[in-house]
Amino acid sequence: MAEVTLDKIVSLCKRRGFIFQSSEIYGGLNGAYDYGPLGVALKNNIRDMWWKEMTQLHDNIVGIDASILMNSTVWKASGHVSNFTDPMVDCKVCHARFRADQIDLNGPCPNCGNKDTFTAPRNFNLMFTTHIGPTQDDSSVVYLRPETAQGIYVNFKNVVQSCRMKVPFGIAQVGKSFRNEITTKNFIFRSCEFEQMEMQWFCKPGTDEKWFPYWREQRMKFYDKMGIRMDHLRWHQHGPDELAFYAKDAYDIQYLFPMGWQELEGVHSRTDYDLTQHQKFSGKDMTYLDPADNSRYIPYVVETSAGLTRNVLMALSDAYEEQQLEGGDSRVVLHFHPNIAPIMVAVLPLMKKDGLAEYASKVEHDLREDFTTDFDVSGAIGRRYRRQDEVGTPYCVTVDYDTLKDNTVTLRFRDSMEQKRIPVSEIVSEIRKANKEYKRV
Ligand code: GAP
Repeated sequence: MAEVTLDKIVSLCKRRGFIFQSSEIYGGLNGAYDYGPLGVALKNNIRDMWWKEMTQLHDNIVGIDASILMNSTVWKASGHVSNFTDPMVDCKVCHARFRADQIDLNGPCPNCGNKDTFTAPRNFNLMFTTHIGPTQDDSSVVYLRPETAQGIYVNFKNVVQSCRMKVPFGIAQVGKSFRNEITTKNFIFRSCEFEQMEMQWFCKPGTDEKWFPYWREQRMKFYDKMGIRMDHLRWHQHGPDELAFYAKDAYDIQYLFPMGWQELEGVHSRTDYDLTQHQKFSGKDMTYLDPADNSRYIPYVVETSAGLTRNVLMALSDAYEEQQLEGGDSRVVLHFHPNIAPIMVAVLPLMKKDGLAEYASKVEHDLREDFTTDFDVSGAIGRRYRRQDEVGTPYCVTVDYDTLKDNTVTLRFRDSMEQKRIPVSEIVSEIRKANKEYKRV
């Protein structure tokens, strides 16, 4: 099987409108990307699947959407102002900057090759700052949030009181986060602007021991549901040198990306650290009165923190396959699970003429209520199938001359390339059934 490289993914993303370099006509911007029509559909589908899993299918989890800009004290309380740093060194000759923990400080500069040219490591804060209001001084500094989690903690009391939530419960949020990452290689894997899908589970101290393994299991199951190959996923437990100073335990779900095993999502046991810090810095009571036994405590938190944009890269990498077909033909196919495929069904008239295009157009319009659709009339039918395979469309419906006689169409399945003849009136139910039974071949 041909190797899946990041270059192939990047090239497909640009060619087919998944992901573009940000402000490309001006030479781009490091660590920033734009999602094209198919990319935004894929990203939204993953987001919606996660949101449904967390807030609709799970007991006791509600959603919020906090603002990106927050009172700066939030980030002092959370420890980000003093601790959210990477140790950096500069090369004194070429002025390239590197993370001190990612290069050999005794070796040559990876950029210019000179030796003994690095400055002493200095801590570099990853938060972007900007100013709010008309003056630009220290008092007007605000940060672009580097994680969505703090927006959840500061709303803990609001949610408990307004929605009468009882511990244990969770708050979920999806949104943009920003980090001034110095090493932004590997496409959207590590970018300066990205999206996170985070859930904070508030529980009684002590019960975190039960919830932590529970959430690890739930999160791994989610990727199975998304159709990701399970042998490409594994756990990595944080060692003492990786663990945040307040964390009790932390595991990463790693995925085998084209560039190797890398973190996809973190499941963290954060104790009462964050709520305690916010109580201290805000002076507001963050305790919870448990009606079960009238005890009062600051809840412990188990966090599940996934990168949405990193999930997009995983979904693309996992789905990508170059296949050699019988007769010397070949195709690139994305084996997306139907739940996340940007286009569910493409309707293809065999010919433009003789009323086939009009008939097919009507079929496609009717399908729009149920599925995301595409309509393609240009080129030989085989080429049109290939185009849909390459963007991961699970089903193609072909309208031909027999359709005009008996109102049947051909339903083609992306993975197996099998075709079956069905009545037009049964397209929706056939696709729904196939989606329920979907297993990647
Ligand atoms: N609230 C905890 C937190 O933010 P994290 O391990 O720093 O934890 C969680 O980030 C997830 O966010 C990561 O597993 C990754 O998927 C994603 N992520 C973090 N930094 C990122 C970046 N620069 N670009 C893309 N995704 C990133």
